[in-house]
Amino acid sequence: MSTSGPSRASSGANINHLVLNVRDIEASHRFYTEVLGMEQCGDLTHTVTMRFYRGDRSRHHDLALVQVNDPEQAPPPDAPSMEPVRAGLNHFAISYPDRQSWLDQIRHMKTCGVEFVRRGNHGMTHSAYLYDPDGHGIEVVYDVPSEAWEGDVDAALNYFEFLELDDLDDSTDYQRFGEGIPEPVAIPGRVNTRQPSP
Ligand SMILES: [Fe+2]
Repeated sequence: MSTSGPSRASSGANINHLVLNVRDIEASHRFYTEVLGMEQCGDLTHTVTMRFYRGDRSRHHDLALVQVNDPEQAPPPDAPSMEPVRAGLNHFAISYPDRQSWLDQIRHMKTCGVEFVRRGNHGMTHSAYLYDPDGHGIEVVYDVPSEAWEGDVDAALNYFEFLELDDLDDSTDYQRFGEGIPEPVAIPGRVNTRQPSP
């Protein structure tokens, strides 16, 4: 009987959940529940202070937070950068189900006083970038229709068009990659790029 396993890894892997170490779990709890709309669905009270969160009841959890032991001595995480100096998390993305829920969420975050650091048309998503209370980089997105990017996903991944931070105009005139890419719209003070971008 053969004891060798499959010669290839299984296909279909996806990110199941994310665990963040935080310096103030109460501040992070408020941010992920009140600002981002997740619900706490569990907590671990032995060994570490750890709480679990989800955006939808169809899932067991999307995110967990772990309180660091010595917040005063814990350095902040690296800021998202395309020129990173240390290994670790760059940023992660939280998606909302559709364009309208994303627009509603953007408005809610503005009401909450969230400061966005970047907003853009990323080809396969429309994205707004912000930080959580610890400085972890977060990208809040909705997926544009798959017809837009499935013709050339690499071209879509390399596309970034800066959009005004304070203007919630969100066009549904989605580019279709693989059929020739229109030039991104120039905005004074912003540099549009087709290089990989956060
Ligand atoms: Fe991203």
